[in-house]
Amino acid sequence: ACGDDSGDAGGSGDDQITIGFAQVGAESGWRTANTKSIQESAKEAGVELKFSDAQGKQENQIKAIRSFITQRVDVIAFSPVVESGWDTVLKEAQDAEIPVILTDRAIDSTDETLYESFIGSDFVLEGKKAGEWLVDEYQDQSDPVNIVELQGTPGAAPANDRKAGFAEVIAAEPKFKVIASQTGQFTRTDGKQVMETFLKSHDDIDVLYAHNDDMGLGAIEAIEAAGLTPGKDIEIITVDAVKDGMTALSEGKINFIVECSPLLGPQLMDLAKKVAAGESVEKRVLTEETTFTPEQAKEALPERKY
Ligand code: AHR
Repeated sequence: ACGDDSGDAGGSGDDQITIGFAQVGAESGWRTANTKSIQESAKEAGVELKFSDAQGKQENQIKAIRSFITQRVDVIAFSPVVESGWDTVLKEAQDAEIPVILTDRAIDSTDETLYESFIGSDFVLEGKKAGEWLVDEYQDQSDPVNIVELQGTPGAAPANDRKAGFAEVIAAEPKFKVIASQTGQFTRTDGKQVMETFLKSHDDIDVLYAHNDDMGLGAIEAIEAAGLTPGKDIEIITVDAVKDGMTALSEGKINFIVECSPLLGPQLMDLAKKVAAGESVEKRVLTEETTFTPEQAKEALPERKY
């Protein structure tokens, strides 16, 4: 349907729907790829997309959702900046009979009737995969392994869950010690800054676990500026597997990446059309993901879309 400007690229024409999408912001390479996926898939599916960028603020997302309700869109989709505090605005959508789809991130509400479906990754599993790689990597070492952690945005599902999954796995072996853990806001700038402070207060860091590639990439700059070799003096694990992260992995500056796919657009369009048509959909749609070593990154890079 690409290039077709007849306005009904998605099908019969009278089933055209409007989605209001409230995005988190543009904090990372992952987010940029996610936005692109949603915008391109909407075009391909003949869906009218009202797109709003919350610039990392929950209050902006709430405002956007309220405006989508006033505009009477067919479906509201959003990627919640944080997990808590959504009940009131989602009840307003429910009262207006506008279905809601959670994209990428979950909310902690106990009322599951507030949304039709949640499509995205299992962030706890991602944290566990990071921990499992570490356990395997240090299986022959009995000395303490000092870990520093760069957390995502405070209160966000991927920050909470990636921390929890990782902690659960490494807790099995007391030699693993998280000696510092702080937010790097999922951005390169903060990742770099916080890593600088970690390096100033600790001269015995063995491992960095960053909740996303961007923070890991920022930290690499700080590590190099401190005269250390990333990937060797300090081993690095990140999450996402965007192109820049994969490039650093292929160069040995990152040691392991847990994939988190941002390409949620096509499935979101599918779900939204079904929900708008009153069809029942799966409450939880899981994204399929893998992990990458440096060798696997080299192989995957030429085909990597984002
Ligand atoms: O919610 C997904 C996370 O948000 C990504 O892992 C991170 O890069 C992004 O900012």
